[in-house]
Amino acid sequence: MEAAETIAELARTAPLRIAATTDLDELARVEAETVGKQSPIAAARRGLGALDPNERRDAGRRINEVAAELSELIELKRSDLASGEQAARLEADAVDVTLPGRKPPRGTHHLITRVMDEIVDIFVSLGYTVTTGPEAETEYYNFTALNFPYAHPSRLETDTLYLDYGSVPEEVLLRTHTSPMQARYMEEHDPPVFIVVPGRVFRRDAMDATHTPVFHQVEGLAVAEDITFRDLKGTLAQFAREFFGPETEVKFLPHHFPFTEPSAEMHAFTNGKWLELLGCGMVNPAVFEYAGYDPDAVTGFAFGFGVERMAMVRYGITDIRSLYDPDVRVLEQFR
Ligand code: PHE
Repeated sequence: MEAAETIAELARTAPLRIAATTDLDELARVEAETVGKQSPIAAARRGLGALDPNERRDAGRRINEVAAELSELIELKRSDLASGEQAARLEADAVDVTLPGRKPPRGTHHLITRVMDEIVDIFVSLGYTVTTGPEAETEYYNFTALNFPYAHPSRLETDTLYLDYGSVPEEVLLRTHTSPMQARYMEEHDPPVFIVVPGRVFRRDAMDATHTPVFHQVEGLAVAEDITFRDLKGTLAQFAREFFGPETEVKFLPHHFPFTEPSAEMHAFTNGKWLELLGCGMVNPAVFEYAGYDPDAVTGFAFGFGVERMAMVRYGITDIRSLYDPDVRVLEQFR
């Protein structure tokens, strides 16, 4: 092909190729093929030397015109594509500040902890102080100082978990109730005493719908100069009304504990039926004697109850094992 024809052809086709490019890389390729060092323009320029002077001038002018025209088209297209690409990048990077944020999952206290805190708060509002004691306890505080006879069945290994610790066998155990703090606290403090003791307790029970070998209790002890059974009833009835609702009825049935005399079970009417809620009674004078109090100078009452049981009654939980299920979907229901 004649150089002049090649240039004419380029002048006709190149503008379309330039216009058809869709990104900067493609445009750079078209630029190289049309006006670059390997292009027909460059080849035509190299061929100018072989022409005679008149032809050379005309051909040279024509080549320069086409080259300038194409270069200008390429520059226009380049700024077009560049701004388009920038707009696309900006759009892709855009932050939509109106989108709702992502909420990280929020933790909460376990239901047992919350119910225990709530129970303790009710007694704090009645003037009680909170104290806690050891989970590994001596048989003395767990049983003897609470007036359990030496042959009491609770002391048996079938009921109590003993630890391989201490100077004589069966000296140290995992406390079976929070009552040992009655004795420990009275040894260290003079009356009057108004305490609640939340804590974990341990019994050698097989797991079923109502038993776990580890559970929680809240103990209460009130000791002063003339505390009566009426004070016990009024205090625990008030607690039941605060915890289960202002209309809650309670009744007291006779029971037996070595450390209270007389002893009772408090039942409450909730969810349409009577349910046993807790053990209580007037502090046995023998317990005062073990603790170093004068049993003729003070009287008192004590009570103790299971936290899991309170939670189950209030939330209608039928299997205590749900409370120990690590699946958060179980626990989330009680937020
Ligand atoms: N310690 C008793 C129990 O675990 C409950 C209780 C506490 C009863 C205080 C009377 C007084 O069953």
